[in-house]
Amino acid sequence: MANKSKFQAIRGTRDLLPPETALWNRVEQTAHEVFSTFGFGEIRPPIIEDAGLFARAIGDETDVVAKEMFNVQSSEPDIVIKTEDGIIAIEIKESLRTDSRQLESQLEHYRSLLERWRSDPSSIAKKETWMLRPEATASVCRAYIEHNMQQLPQPVKLYYMGPMFRRERPQKGRYRQFYQIGAEILGGPDAPAIDAELIEMLMSFFDKCGLQGTELSINSIGHAADNCRRGYVAKLREELIKVKDKLGADSQRRIETNPLRVLDSKLEHEQAIIATLPRIADHLCDECKAHYAAVKHELEQRGVIYRENWRLVRGLDYYMRTTFEITAQGLGSQNAVCGGGRYDGLVELLGGPPTKGIGFAIGEDRLILSLQESGKAPAAQGRDVYIAWMGEKAYATAIRAAKTLRKAGFRVELPPTELKFGKALERASKLGSRFALILGDNEVQSGEWTLKTLADGSQQKLTEQALLDYLKSL
Ligand code: HAM
Repeated sequence: MANKSKFQAIRGTRDLLPPETALWNRVEQTAHEVFSTFGFGEIRPPIIEDAGLFARAIGDETDVVAKEMFNVQSSEPDIVIKTEDGIIAIEIKESLRTDSRQLESQLEHYRSLLERWRSDPSSIAKKETWMLRPEATASVCRAYIEHNMQQLPQPVKLYYMGPMFRRERPQKGRYRQFYQIGAEILGGPDAPAIDAELIEMLMSFFDKCGLQGTELSINSIGHAADNCRRGYVAKLREELIKVKDKLGADSQRRIETNPLRVLDSKLEHEQAIIATLPRIADHLCDECKAHYAAVKHELEQRGVIYRENWRLVRGLDYYMRTTFEITAQGLGSQNAVCGGGRYDGLVELLGGPPTKGIGFAIGEDRLILSLQESGKAPAAQGRDVYIAWMGEKAYATAIRAAKTLRKAGFRVELPPTELKFGKALERASKLGSRFALILGDNEVQSGEWTLKTLADGSQQKLTEQALLDYLKSL
């Protein structure tokens, strides 16, 4: 039976282990390389942000904000002073009510807060809420504003990679801590060539990773105006109300909150109904229609193969015009490996200047899963050289040899305690070593080291320099 420790990774989180992490590194390295050839620079925003940032950017009514965010306890006191009509009420957190010592120290803190509040009420009025980021587009836009990036040559092209957090129901390809590799283009014009080049970069990244069976779906969801998306949404709502009784509870609720999301529904019995609903392509304003047509033309010029999907609306509120998603093979129901789109109003919504924006985020966990399913996983990484040493003098030589070989880039295992040669060779082959370097009294005295090739058992005698030359020549 496997050992069960008292502690296990929290549901929906997991350890990434070797050799799989070698594949993660390879994918990330490929992203650094490909994205930099398109002029992108890396940004590393913090993992925690003000809750308001996500509520504002992604939308209060979205699943991500309404249900899935992880709250981070800030260091604010657990005792909150509420003032109503001049009355001061003290709210003590449940967890403190049974711990008198902790409560005592909190009360001390409360007294000093009260002093502060008396002299300057505004200084303690706000209790901050921090969230673990569920995505990074909002953070990148915040950073663009905070660092006055509109003063740089436009557009600013940024990419990021790292963990994101969403309290979703875990399943294959869906985790509560997952990883994204994303890119955003901020500022400059909204030329369709920008949309197309971003997608071209994405597809060449997937291609370089060796991802199989990718399918790119695109759509345009227009912009928020009566003669465009707003008009369409009103029409859609009207039609949905007519069939309300036939829809599931989620879709019924969305008729009011966000009718577009009904188009996302995967419920079997809703599919036939959705197929009869009005389509946004027939309701785009002239500018959005022209933009969409030009994006498609630009994609064709770049040889990027796409499929149009009028139901692709995406789950975050900030999108407008171009939206896209990529699926890959071997992922089951969670087969979206990347999602993205244009979000021209977002920087302004967050308090910045009017700024165009477009970007995507790749689900790295899913990308890795798909690569593994198609046999792209690297084998466990063995050692190049295992140093089998015996005796004090040989040990000193072994340390030196290990240093020299590692400096030259070889993977070396130097056992920390002396082992009989038989045992050492056994370990060497268990670790998948290619060679064993045998160092005993004879070798140290003669300066001729023994190199054993483990695959065929052959041995040769080499000086230190000859050994290095030989290994480098392989
Ligand atoms: P998103 O569609 O919410 O978009 O997420 C992008 C990708 O992240 C998904 O296609 C999926 O591969 C992966 N993903 C999302 N949730 C999970 C999860 N719980 N477990 C594993 N993978 C997951 C965004 O996040 C936008 N910020 C993309 C964007 C950037 N739009 C413009 N710029």
